[in-house]
Amino acid sequence: MARLIVRGGRPLNGTVRVGGRKNAAVAVIPAAILAGGPCTFENVPDIADVRTYLEILRSLGARVKLNSGSGLCIDPRAVRPVTPPDELVKKMRASYYLLGALLARFGTAAVALPGGCDIGERPIDQHLKGLKALGVEVVIEHGLIKARADKLHAALVYLDVTSVGATINIILAATGAEGVTVIENAAREPHVVDVANFINSIGGRVIGAGTDVVKVHGLIQPGSCHHSIIPDEIEAGTLMIAAAATRGQVRLDSVIPKHLEPISAKLREVGATVEENGDYVLVRSNGRPKAVAIKTLPYPGFPTDAQQPMTALLATADGTSLVTESVWEGRFKHVDELKRMGTKVRVEGRTAIIEGVERLTGAHVTATDLRAGAALVVAGLVAEGETVIEGIEYVDRGYERLDVKLRGLGADIRRE
Ligand code: EPU
Repeated sequence: MARLIVRGGRPLNGTVRVGGRKNAAVAVIPAAILAGGPCTFENVPDIADVRTYLEILRSLGARVKLNSGSGLCIDPRAVRPVTPPDELVKKMRASYYLLGALLARFGTAAVALPGGCDIGERPIDQHLKGLKALGVEVVIEHGLIKARADKLHAALVYLDVTSVGATINIILAATGAEGVTVIENAAREPHVVDVANFINSIGGRVIGAGTDVVKVHGLIQPGSCHHSIIPDEIEAGTLMIAAAATRGQVRLDSVIPKHLEPISAKLREVGATVEENGDYVLVRSNGRPKAVAIKTLPYPGFPTDAQQPMTALLATADGTSLVTESVWEGRFKHVDELKRMGTKVRVEGRTAIIEGVERLTGAHVTATDLRAGAALVVAGLVAEGETVIEGIEYVDRGYERLDVKLRGLGADIRRE
């Protein structure tokens, strides 16, 4: 088990390159099952969830080759609709996309129920509602989701909850359905757009991704393509928050500033300067952050995935901040660990009430999930003395060499 040891109190300074978006990569990789030939990808993040997904694709028969840098080639022609190993599927949430992709190509799929971070109840009823509307019969037995359809047909699917996963899964399945599927109340996250762009570049026709109505033309004649994965706005957001929390100055390269707006806006409210230009943002801060109120919401609201790192920044703010988590009810598990470092936080229902303190002190803490780990890293960078963070395998699932990138910005952080 790896752990990180951070000696805090140094402002972050310098330039860092942001990698490809985790939640886009773990959707376009299974989407490659739909292609008719080899697909090459660039800007693929080197993270554990991507490596797990590539193992899953290999187990289905795909030829997978990692190229130098962040390149990847997937040839899906030999894929068969066999059941992938449970132990790989259960390592992450995004394995549910195998259902949509395998159904579209073969009309059948059998995949274990997904795993992923423990951040509250994570139902998949909206995925199943959409698949059933397309004519899929679904049975869940012994932890396995078995889905099959003699013929997929287009449908109108209204999502009761705006779900990123359900939107993408239904788009994937609908590429194999006859007719035009319409998804209403669809998620608008940029990674939904990234998946649509990938499908369109192999010859599909997905229209409206990025709005709340997405139309998918089915029965595509798929080919090959080259696709570049969009930048990770949560990696960028975490580094921006760390820059502001440590009162440093950091330039983040290879980002799409528009995707960062909800985070940039809040950082400006806490008193940091955020400048945007082309494909970079520059974050600067030299004073104590101001307290703010935040409510997490689907895109373009403040992202739930940046909420935990943001609470670490607000722990030293001047005044009392309110952070309301409206997406995942169990996403305050980091709060108890932050308390060991001297934060004054209490959680009432879905709101964390954070009384800012002037300083945090290093402690021995444990990450309970991916973004909780990132929050502890931010707190460790700010705290006086040494912070030891256990459970770093969670962080490695979704951040590409976070310790190395932070060291490049002047942080005193090492892995053991
Ligand atoms: N929901 C339902 N039914 C469903 C699906 C979702 O009620 O069938 C509810 C959930 O309980 C939640 C809300 O809808 O309250 C949103 O869930 P969504 O389906 O959008 O989440 P997800 O697809 O499971 C993805 C990301 C998460 C991110 C959320 C929200 C992936 C692999 N995961 O999860 O990322 O928090 O969208 O943006 O894309 C992370 O990266 O740390 C992470 C947890």
